[in-house]
This record gives sequence, structure tokens and C-alpha cells, in this order.
Amino acid sequence: MQKSVLLIITGSIAAYKSLELIRRLREQGIMVRCVLTKSGERFVTPLSVSALTENNVYNDLWSLKDETEMGHIRLSREADMVVVAPASADIIAKMANGLANDLASATLLANNKPLLVAPAMNSYMWNNPATKRNLQQIKDDGAEIIEPGSGMLACGEIGQGRMAEVDIIAAMIISRLGNKNLPLAGKKALVTAGATIEEIDPVRFISNKSSGKQGYAIAEALALAGADVILVSGASLPVPSNVKIVKISSAQEMLEACEKSLPVDIAVFTAAVSDFRPQDTSKSKIKKKPGAAAPILKLTENPDILKTISTHKKRPQLVIGFAAETENLENNAREKLARKKCDWILANDVSGGKVFDSDMNEILFVSANKNENWGRISKQSVAQKLVEKISLQIVDKKKKS
Ligand code: CTP
Repeated sequence: MQKSVLLIITGSIAAYKSLELIRRLREQGIMVRCVLTKSGERFVTPLSVSALTENNVYNDLWSLKDETEMGHIRLSREADMVVVAPASADIIAKMANGLANDLASATLLANNKPLLVAPAMNSYMWNNPATKRNLQQIKDDGAEIIEPGSGMLACGEIGQGRMAEVDIIAAMIISRLGNKNLPLAGKKALVTAGATIEEIDPVRFISNKSSGKQGYAIAEALALAGADVILVSGASLPVPSNVKIVKISSAQEMLEACEKSLPVDIAVFTAAVSDFRPQDTSKSKIKKKPGAAAPILKLTENPDILKTISTHKKRPQLVIGFAAETENLENNAREKLARKKCDWILANDVSGGKVFDSDMNEILFVSANKNENWGRISKQSVAQKLVEKISLQIVDKKKKS
């Protein structure tokens, strides 16, 4: 049966992106009905929304005609899910407080369907304690939130508040509606992320600056594309929905968890694995001895997880590594591609500390026969681009076999 979405467009410059969202959903054969608020109408016209949805646009709680044909109660009853995109600070405040003084808020108050909310606003509005309270309230009331991205906002300020990418919102809607046509439906994926911790003694360790953000974004994008995702992680970030997490600490634990997850179709290694670990871990804290020389730390090499999985008898169909470099990006990436026997390397320039803990990355994509410079883009966009490439590759192989 045809799935149906009720899309509520509120007043934000991001409303223009909702037109693209409608197209994406329509391409998947999903029926879209729209409610457009008065402020939403300042950014997109009812005519363009109606032309794209091939449906009436609803914008007036007091319209005799609309209420007789399709009242605000029926609008949610006849949809499989309700999506608010963009969701302004105002509509979020109304939802949190149960206000119902226009068609959008009345429909939301009467809603009995799964609800997805994609906020878009200025970063000060986003960070305002009132908005935070309201968001927490609507989450507690059962809404699913698609966090806005960071970067340059339409108002010229920089910060968090930009509506999530249309691809992500569309993929989330499609996956919540249970669409079997997702490109990676039925595929299993393994992702490693974050830093490993190699213990010297009970209080000290060797680790590195990796935040895990890139790996988590890739795990999320793979799950949104329909894959069954196992994320083996040394990081402590919020786990994306529909992703199975396996928390590890050391490189050896990471390797064990990866081998245990096999067989998988796709493996992406973003983790910053410590190349060395202390040869012996002291059971008790190493103490200073007055007058004695500083202790010498003997290191031993850790297993190369990417290489082990690339050469494993259960090798995944597609194995992708990262290469954190501070110089000779391409040469080092090509050397790693050959040495680690993986299919693709995403080389990132980490010189000057510009990648660690940042939301941005700078990528050179390297495969056996080509290079692509993706330039400086957000980690979320890297994840989307990569998952698009993975999907094409997997579909291609499906066709060939
Ligand atoms: N990697 C891994 N296991 C290791 C070391 C690295 O799986 N013990 C993976 C990383 O997750 C990444 C790729 O190998 O996908 C390259 O990691 P990088 O740290 O750039 O390379 P190294 O092998 O550590 O080489 P070098 O330190 O000489 O740059």
C-alpha cells in the first residue's frame, strides 16, 4: 500500500529545502500532504508545494472548505507519519506546551502518528535554554529529532542550527516507513571509530586525539541507507539509532570485536588505532623513586586491524580505510592502499590539528585507479558521499553477479 507523509513546513529560510524533500519522497512513491504555516508561506509558496506534492496545501485552521474536505484531525489520521521540516523555534515551543492556535499546531496536538522533527534556526535560538527545554519536552513526549548541522547560517553567523541535509531527513523517513528499496537493505556493515586506549598502569594510558565523529556519522549514514550496522568504538558519543554498538578499549579488543562481527559486506575503518602498546602493563601505579632515573617505556606493535580484515578468509566485499596524514597525502594514501590491501582509502590532512574534534574534514578519495579531491566538507557530508559510493558499488556488483 502507498505510504503517506504529512509534512509541516514552518517559517525558516530552510523551507526551500523542503521542496527538495518532497521530491525525494515522491521519487520513492510516497504520498506527501503539506501543511504550510503563515511564516512558512513567506519562504515557499503554496503553489510550488502543491505542484510538487500534487495535492492540496493546507494552511488555514478556519478554512470552511479545507475543514469539510480534510479536517486537521484527519490530516494526521490519514498519514503514516508526520514530519516537521523545517521546525522553527516557535513551532517547537508550541508543541512543547500543547498550543493549538493555528492549523500546524492543532494538527500536531491531534497527532497520533510517529513524529520526526528537523529543527532549523539561528544558533543563539538553538542554544537558548528555552529551546533546549522545549526540545527535551517534545523528545520526552515521543518526537524524534534530527539534529541540525553546524556551519555558516543564512543569517551570516556561524554555529549550530542549519537544518539537517535533505538526504538524511529523506533517508530517515524512508527507513521509518520500512522501505525495502533502500540501497543497502539486507547488507551488513562494520565500522570502527574513535581512539584506542593502551594501558601503561591502572591510571595512565597511551591514546590519541580522535573524537570518533567521522566514524559515527558513517555508521549513521549506512544505517539510514538500510544496512545492518555494527559500530566497534573506543569513543563515547551518542549512538545513532539503528546501530549496534560494541564498546572496546584497546586495539586488541577492537580486533577481536571486528573478527567476531564477520561476515559483513562492507567494512569501514575510521578508528585511530594506537600503533603501539606498552609491552607490559603494570598492575600497580608506577611510582617515582627519589634519585632514580625515569622509567623506560617499552612498546610493542599492535595488530593492524584494517590489514587483518582485508586479508581475512571472510574478507568483506568492500573494505575501506582512512589515512590520517600531515604530509604527502596522495603518496602515503596509495602506499597504505597497497600495504593494507583495502579497496579505497579516504586520506585526510590532519596537519595543524584542523580535523580532530572538528565537524569538518578534508578528504582525498583514493582507489586503485583514481583520485577524487572532496575538499573541505563536513564529516556528515563525507559520510553521505561515501555511502552513496558504497551503494553504487554494491548495486553494481549485485548486477554483475
Ligand atoms: N588501522 C588499523 N589498525 C592499526 C592501525 C591503523 O585498523 N593498528 C587503520 C585505521 O583505522 C585507518 C588505516 O588503518 O583506516 C590507516 O591508519 P593510519 O593511522 O593513517 O595508518 P598507520 O597504519 O597507523 O600508518 P602510519 O602511522 O605510518 O601513518
